[in-house]
Amino acid sequence: MRLKKLRYRSKLNCMPSYDVVEREWKIKVNANECGMNLPPMVEDRVMGRLSRIAFNRYPNEDLEQLMEAIASNYGLQKENVLIGNGSSEIIEKLFFAFGGRNLTIAYPQPSFSMYHIYAQAAEARSVVIELNPEDYSLDVRQFIQKVNDSKAALAVVCNPNNPTGNALTIEQIEDIAQHTSCALLIDEAYVEFYGQSAACLLKKYPKLLVARTFSKAYGLAAIRCGYLLGD
Ligand SMILES: Cc1ncc(COP(=O)(O)O)c(C=O)c1O
Repeated sequence: MRLKKLRYRSKLNCMPSYDVVEREWKIKVNANECGMNLPPMVEDRVMGRLSRIAFNRYPNEDLEQLMEAIASNYGLQKENVLIGNGSSEIIEKLFFAFGGRNLTIAYPQPSFSMYHIYAQAAEARSVVIELNPEDYSLDVRQFIQKVNDSKAALAVVCNPNNPTGNALTIEQIEDIAQHTSCALLIDEAYVEFYGQSAACLLKKYPKLLVARTFSKAYGLAAIRCGYLLGD
């Protein structure tokens, strides 16, 4: 049987593929995973809990509990927490929510390579703000200006930044929040290695969104669980 030519969004053909090369390795760092597996005692407890799961049921109640636990950790309500299959899923959804034709998403470059892919998938216009080539620092004033000039719907900052490791201070993030009017996503996938989370600004700036993940410092990439904090 001959397949008819499939019709789909034409720009998808121009998108780069995200290839992760799997090969033999002694030390594996290409996905920024934690190098150690769970401590045996923790693993035992996880396995014990898994054996009591009703696999045929949607996990609504467990999600509520997790949302409550996360919210109380930040002094927030469970309505301020969104759980996803990794923070990737949440970031992608935000790009779809704030992207689309005629909408602009601004982010520094180099940064997490998926921002560009998500922006393309969402058919948003990308405005990239180049990091200083000497030390990979972000010029906050220039960032604010480009976000405002481009009338971006969403501005994204990865803090600390993947792949450069540079970090903005909380004061710099507040400066951006104060002087822009669009949604501002702080991707904190690696914040545990830095120690300063923008979550403390959430109550003051309702347009601020903070994405976190259990995949990196918590060493739980296999469960693929991330969350968003926001108004
Ligand atoms: C900056 C950044 N954000 C988000 C993610 C997504 O992580 P996950 O989907 O596992 O939560 C990654 C993963 O490498 C990352 O480097």
